[in-house]
Amino acid sequence: MNTTIEYDRPRIRLPFPGPRAKRIMAADDRFLSRSYTRSYPLVASKARGVWIEDVDGNVFLDCNAGVAVCATGHCHPEIVSAILKQSEQLIHMCGADYYYELLPRLASKLDEIAPVPSPSRVLFTSSGTEAVEAALKLAMHFTRRTKFIAFFNSFHGRTMGSLSLTSSKAAQRRGFGSQALDVTHVPYPCCHRCPFGARPSAPTNCCMGAVDWIENRLFKTTVPPDECAAIVVECVQGEGGYIPAPRDFLLGLRRICDRHGILLIVDEVQSGMGRTGKMFACDHYGLKPDILCLAKGIASGLPLGVCMARDAIMDWPPGAHASTFGGNPVALASALKTIELLEGGLVSNSRMVGEFMIEALREIRRNHASISDVRGLGLMIGVEFEPSHGQPDEDSRLAERVIREAFRRGLILLTAGENTVRWSPPLVLTREQAAVAIDIFAEAVQAASRSAPATLPQAFPLSAPALAHPCCEGAD
Ligand SMILES: Cc1ncc(COP(=O)(O)O)c(C=O)c1O
Repeated sequence: MNTTIEYDRPRIRLPFPGPRAKRIMAADDRFLSRSYTRSYPLVASKARGVWIEDVDGNVFLDCNAGVAVCATGHCHPEIVSAILKQSEQLIHMCGADYYYELLPRLASKLDEIAPVPSPSRVLFTSSGTEAVEAALKLAMHFTRRTKFIAFFNSFHGRTMGSLSLTSSKAAQRRGFGSQALDVTHVPYPCCHRCPFGARPSAPTNCCMGAVDWIENRLFKTTVPPDECAAIVVECVQGEGGYIPAPRDFLLGLRRICDRHGILLIVDEVQSGMGRTGKMFACDHYGLKPDILCLAKGIASGLPLGVCMARDAIMDWPPGAHASTFGGNPVALASALKTIELLEGGLVSNSRMVGEFMIEALREIRRNHASISDVRGLGLMIGVEFEPSHGQPDEDSRLAERVIREAFRRGLILLTAGENTVRWSPPLVLTREQAAVAIDIFAEAVQAASRSAPATLPQAFPLSAPALAHPCCEGAD
């Protein structure tokens, strides 16, 4: 990839996978864990901004950002230079045992900008799941209670504690025995498909169904409030289908927690760091968590997680929790630069380009009855398709078929939830690039709707595009 050239469209040569990609995929297939999920054969070689080049020279427009991670775009020059500078000075020390300036520098910046009431404290980790593990342990330690409440379709990670919360797909739990932690799940409100049966036009406030369920059912039966350590919630359900929570629901949870001495843990691993058009999704709601979890976008691709809590809560003794790699200096330097870039314009870009995209996607919906909902905040957007009854396997669902058709046209997207296409592009995406992505998406929806699921079997059915596309000109 010529890193000085700005592309204006994807450049694609079919068929996929190309010869180099095929070799790498064969080696991957032989040596990598079979638990990895791949929807299509993207074999990345280099990336810059919103463009990814594969090993065969195809150029893709990235609207997934490595699953909502590359907030500042791929290899942002200022991030690269911050990483290089820091790696020449100090790569590792172990923040659990030694001091270095970057630790309090990033923690104090988070104290300034994050929705956890100041004074706060921070524990650094290397991933989202570890940030959630830390939050769970901290809540148990502080409250001396052991029960938790979480929500169906949520995703909080795959290690044993966070897996007890995660409930987005059976495959994530199958074979792993009983939950490590005592977690009770409650339906997450979704105005589009109300789990409590309310119609969108209902005069009553259906969003309070989950709050009512907790107060009047769980607390009176299986989860006595004085045994409940924390309620764990995503403000925008991520893997569950990109569903922004209703305000009354979140503020209702805050009220319940305050009433019963329960901690409110907000997991912003996916929705944080400008993704929703504000620095944190909590900011859309005026929500103040007791504990906040961050990861993904915080360090523009370097592994960093954050468990942040009110000072009074993060009151455990030395040795209670820490990690060798958590708060690695290079990741911290990248995070400080990431926040600078977010504050310098990327958060507002996320809001503005997000509004444009939601409007454009709603326009597409008007011509496609198969799209049942377009929703989101900033550049965290979900396009839900009508349930495909009678198509139990995930590969044949419309959302899956759409992202494969998009891939063949050079647009990188992933699915979330049952049948939703998720948009989580780098926050540097311009309006012009968004318009290109929307055009390709419209063609992909058209092509996927026309192709019968039976003609799209399980793995990578990629030969020739069902619909001619300018980006395929010159394809062999
Ligand atoms: C909301 C949320 N929490 C936690 C996690 C787990 O993060 P990681 O994969 O870094 O362990 C994810 C990952 O997708 C997530 O979306």
